[in-house]
Amino acid sequence: MKRVLSGIQPTGAIHIGNYLGAIKQWVQLGESLGKEALFCIVDYHALTNPSAYDPELLPQRTFEAALANIAAGLDPQKITLFVQSHVPEHTELSWIFTTQTPVGDLTRMTQYKDKAGKLKSVPAGLLMYPVLQAADILIYKADTVPVGEDQLQHLELTREIARRFNGAFGETFPEPQALLNSRAPRVPGVDGAAKMSKSVGNTIDMLEDPKSIWEKLRVAPTDPARVRRNDPGDPDRCLIFKYHSYFSPEEVQQAVSQGCRSAGIGCVDCKKLLFDNMMKTLRPIQERAAELRRQPEIVEAALREGAERARSMARETMHEVRRKIGLYKPY
Ligand code: TRP
Ligand code: SF4
Repeated sequence: MKRVLSGIQPTGAIHIGNYLGAIKQWVQLGESLGKEALFCIVDYHALTNPSAYDPELLPQRTFEAALANIAAGLDPQKITLFVQSHVPEHTELSWIFTTQTPVGDLTRMTQYKDKAGKLKSVPAGLLMYPVLQAADILIYKADTVPVGEDQLQHLELTREIARRFNGAFGETFPEPQALLNSRAPRVPGVDGAAKMSKSVGNTIDMLEDPKSIWEKLRVAPTDPARVRRNDPGDPDRCLIFKYHSYFSPEEVQQAVSQGCRSAGIGCVDCKKLLFDNMMKTLRPIQERAAELRRQPEIVEAALREGAERARSMARETMHEVRRKIGLYKPY
């Protein structure tokens, strides 16, 4: 692993499923790789979602995505955090790749089929989405891409695009590998019914007001066997216990497990314990976020420096690519 790139869409609040599933891993990668870790807020990708894209809200959401990631521990002094549209070379490379990519490779992408199936009019950008993603990665010659399972097909296509380009124009791009976070939990939503997801509306957000978090936990389902306070329960059938496993120390988990099975602890107390431990993780993040909100210039400067660093790498690749594909350049 030499250079890592990952992208996130600026689609609004980050929930604890995103935090535990992705951001925590990024923070660790950033610690070990420093400047070779690139994190890109993919605003051009956000434009392909006609139901979520709003030109009034996009700048705010992009800023918020940067702020939230910095608050969560990504250190922009160490890593390279930047906004996709601030490095226009991504779209330039993307165009070049589209000329080398068969339409059939794109129409068979499952994410495309899912998204396009729900739309009356399908923007061509939705079809090109994975080509832009390939450009995001290959323009930095990144070898490792931390993603969720839903992105494996896009990664495979990225490798295909790299291979095809190398075959046609000479060895240029490495074939990047996906880095699946095997320790990432599939965090259930606070409704206990579905995976935590913004579209389902069952999230606890990383920067959510503690009162609101408590209110959600208070009414969250527990083991249905515990009808009365004295009924013993099975923690393995309880959402709250699952959450304890993410946030509470081992001793607390053991005490809760025993207390639940023996009816020694009530669900409300169990939830209070969870809330306290959850806030031990979230409070410092929320405090940093509040600080950054008071000093937005810190976030702005980080993104400016990030874009400069990213851009100097991207420019180098584009010089090479332009020459290799035969663009005329007499000056
Ligand atoms: N498609 C990715 C997602 O929805 C976001 C993304 C865009 C990305 N460009 C990327 C992820 C490059 C990794 C690398 O999650
Ligand atoms: Fe769930 Fe805790 Fe109640 Fe047991 S005591 S059912 S783990 S909330």
